[in-house]
Amino acid sequence: MPLGNEEIKIAQTIIAVALAFLSIALVMILFFYFSRKKIVQKEIEKRELEVNHQKELLHSVLVTQEAERKRIAQDLHDDISSKLNVVALHTHLLSTPDITDLERTEIMQQISDLTGKALENSRRIAHDLLPPVFERFGLHAGIEELVLEFNTSKTMQVTYTNSVKFDEAKNDKLLHVFRILQELLNNSLRHGKATQVQIIMTQQNDQIQLQYTDNGIGFEVHDSSKHRGLGLKNIESRVGILNGTFQVESQSGQGVQYNFNFSIV
Ligand SMILES: Nc1ncnc2c1ncn2[C@@H]1O[C@H](COP(=O)(O)OP(=O)(O)OP(=O)(O)O)[C@@H](O)[C@H]1O
Ligand SMILES: [Mg+2]
Repeated sequence: MPLGNEEIKIAQTIIAVALAFLSIALVMILFFYFSRKKIVQKEIEKRELEVNHQKELLHSVLVTQEAERKRIAQDLHDDISSKLNVVALHTHLLSTPDITDLERTEIMQQISDLTGKALENSRRIAHDLLPPVFERFGLHAGIEELVLEFNTSKTMQVTYTNSVKFDEAKNDKLLHVFRILQELLNNSLRHGKATQVQIIMTQQNDQIQLQYTDNGIGFEVHDSSKHRGLGLKNIESRVGILNGTFQVESQSGQGVQYNFNFSIV
């Protein structure tokens, strides 16, 4: 039986609606597929950035380690080996037969002066590597000594307040805090030409807050072309080792402020 006009129209409408639904579904599937692909792509890019950043940090740690070794080797060579060489020569001279009493006294005096200087230099090198006061009396005493060293130079006045009781069993971790402060103070003096620095450490439960402020010339924190050194990268690695976080705020001419959070438990 042939279909009536009415039925043909209904059938056409059903087909049209079905096609419309199908195309909407297709568009939606395509849309989800491409947006998902975009998200995955973004995720991959983010991971790649993180991996590159980690590589950069590791690289800076290795470069610093090598630079430090080179510096120690140079210090040992220039300040100790060269002096001991002269001491060895002088000692040899002492055993020559035709030497006068006056010459002997002079040589002995030089040997005594040179060994004294070599001793003093070896103490300084050891102190630079790890301040004995930190090793013996902990972070608080170490920072106080560091602050005193800067304050006696009179170019920069550093105030330090600390209400945290450090656990000396954690000295290997606390050494990172000490090294961070060393770097910050050196930067404030060298780059910031600061005259005032404030260091405040407080504790809330197992969280330690460290606030560091200088009144120097500041710098554009987000201008990466200015971050040529290793100091700030090393600070970042050390904060990472301490499972901490930090923010730095600064603008040209307006000093620098760092806020660190560590959990040293
Ligand atoms: N307190 C500060 N005041 C002004 N500028 C600063 C300060 N700290 C850092 N900067 C700027 O940031 C740059 C990067 O500092 P960073 O410590 O990483 O490297 P550096 O001190 O130049 O070299 P390095 O630490 O390797 O000896 C500095 O060169 C300087 O321009
Ligand atoms: Mg530096």
